[in-house]
Amino acid sequence: MTQQETAGAPATGWWTEAVIYQIYPRSFADSDGDGIGDLPGITARLDHLAELGVDAVWLSPFYPSPQADAGYDVADYRDVDPLFGRLGDADKMIAEAKARGLRVIVDLVPNHTSSAHRWFQAALAAAPGSPERQRYVFRDGKGPQGAAPPNDWQSVFGGPAWTRVPDGQWYLHLFDTGQPDLNWDSPEVRAEFLDILRFWLDRGVDGFRVDVAHGLIKQADLADWQEPHEILSGQEVDKPRPPMWDQDGVHEIYREWRRLLDSYGGERILVAEAWVEPAERLAHYVRPDEMHQAFNFEYLLAAWTAPAQYAVITRSLEATDAVGAPTTWVLSNHDVVRHASRLALPIGAPRPNGIGIGDPQPDAALGLRRARAASLLMLALPGSAYLYQGEELGLPEHTTLPDEARQDPTWERSGHTERGRDGCRVPIPWEADAPSYGFGPTDASWLPQPPSWAEYALDRQRGVPGSTYELYRTALRLRREHGLARGPLEWLSTGDEVIAFRNGGLTVLTNFGQAAVSAPAGEVVQSSAPLDEDGRVPTDVTVWVRA
Ligand code: GLC
Ligand code: MG
Repeated sequence: MTQQETAGAPATGWWTEAVIYQIYPRSFADSDGDGIGDLPGITARLDHLAELGVDAVWLSPFYPSPQADAGYDVADYRDVDPLFGRLGDADKMIAEAKARGLRVIVDLVPNHTSSAHRWFQAALAAAPGSPERQRYVFRDGKGPQGAAPPNDWQSVFGGPAWTRVPDGQWYLHLFDTGQPDLNWDSPEVRAEFLDILRFWLDRGVDGFRVDVAHGLIKQADLADWQEPHEILSGQEVDKPRPPMWDQDGVHEIYREWRRLLDSYGGERILVAEAWVEPAERLAHYVRPDEMHQAFNFEYLLAAWTAPAQYAVITRSLEATDAVGAPTTWVLSNHDVVRHASRLALPIGAPRPNGIGIGDPQPDAALGLRRARAASLLMLALPGSAYLYQGEELGLPEHTTLPDEARQDPTWERSGHTERGRDGCRVPIPWEADAPSYGFGPTDASWLPQPPSWAEYALDRQRGVPGSTYELYRTALRLRREHGLARGPLEWLSTGDEVIAFRNGGLTVLTNFGQAAVSAPAGEVVQSSAPLDEDGRVPTDVTVWVRA
C-alpha cells in the first residue's frame, strides 16, 4: 500500500453526505412538446427536487450528439444539443439550481467521442499512421488483406468491438460503432479533456460523473480476451484482469484531474462510473488524490437476502473506509432495470438487460414493496446515496415496451437477444390527468409511457401519507436531522432473515424472512409498509425506530 492509501483521515465536505439525484434529461421534463425532455424543462421542475430534499443533481449528457447512444456519443463537449436547448439554458439551469441550494454535477464521457466529432472526422480523412489517427485506436487487421479485426474483443452492446474504414484499417469501439475509443496515451487527448473540465468548471458546475472511468487505458498489446465482454470487470481473484478494463494507467489521469479541480476551490467533485469488483479494487479510484466517489454497483447488484445485504454493506464500508472516502449507495440508474421491478425477479437470478413483451413479468406489488424497503435501508446507511429520477415515485420498469419502439443500440447489436435499457428511460409521470402525464405540454413522448403510470404521477402522491414520494421525503429529512450520512453504523443483528443496525440514534431493521418479527423497542418514526396488528415488522419491510 502506498502512503496515500493508508491515509486514515476520513474526507469531509458536502459530497461525503450528499443525496444526489440523477436526471436523465431526455425523460425528465419536456418544455417544448417535442417529446424529448430538455434543459428548460429541468429548470421548471427544480422546485420538485428542492422539496424532495436532495442535495445535488447529476445530469446525463446534454451535449451535441447524433444520439447513437442517447447522448453518450458526444460530438462537441462544449455545447448543448439543440434537442435540449442552448448553452444559455445550461447556464440558467445551473444558476437556478444553485439558487435552491442544489449542486450540479454534469456527465463527462472521456472513453470515446461520437463518430461525428470533428477529431474522428479528421481521422477518417487522414491516412493510416497520421497524427489525426493517433487520437483514436486505429490498427491494421489480421489475416489475408487484414480482413479480420485486430483482436477478438466484443462491444459491450454486442458484436465486434472493431469497425473497418474504407482504407482497410480498423478502429476500436468498446460500445457502439458511433462511439470510437480515444487513445489516452496521446498527450493531445489529455490536454483536450483538461480544457473541457475547465470549460464546465468555469460555468460553475460542482463536479463530473465520469463515464466508463475504468476503460480509458487498454492493455498495450491489445491481447485477445476469450471471455464475455461485459462492462463489469468483476472477476475472481485468480483470474487475469480483462485487457480493456481497470488498467492501472487510468489512475494517473484522475490524479491530474483532481489537481485541476482542487485548484478551483468550492469542493468540486469527480465521481467514477467504474464497474470494478471487488470493492478493494474499486477503492483505488477514490484514494485521497484521485476521485471523490465511485458508484457502488456491487451494492446495486446484491441479492435481496439478509446475508447478501449484510455482506455487501460491510464490505463496501470497509473498502472505502480504508482510503478515507465516503461509501456510496445506488439502486437504480439509466443502465439497469429499475429496482421496483428488479427486486421482484427470482432472488439470485442473473440481472437481465431489460425486460420485454413475452418475458416473465415481475409482480409490481412485490417489486414496489421490496423497493420501498430497500430504499429505506439505503437511505439509513452512512455515506452518499444516488437516486434515479422516478424512483421517488416508486416507478417500475416499463416491461412491455413494444420492441419497435426500442432505441437502445443494445437491442439491434445483440441481434435481438438483449432488450437493453429503454425500459428504465421512459419519460416520468408528473400529473395523472395531463397529456404525457405532465412530462410535456403535448402527448409526445420519445418512448411510449404505459397506461398504468397515472397512479405513480407526482400529483397523486404529493401530500398523501404513505405514498412512496412522501416516504422518500420523510426519509431524506430524518436522514439529515439524525446525521445518518455520518455514521458510524453499529450492527445489532446479522441473521439469515433480518438485518438491524444503529445509526444516528435510530435503530434500522429490515425483515427479509417469511415471518413477521418484533419491531425494535422505541418509537417507529418511519416504516416502508404498515406494521401488522401486533406491531410486528412483516416480510420485506424496513423500519426506523427512535429508542
Ligand atoms: C456508461 C453509460 C451508458 C453508456 C456507456 C457508454 O455505462 O452509463 O449509458 O451507454 O457508458 O458511454
Ligand atoms: Mg423538448
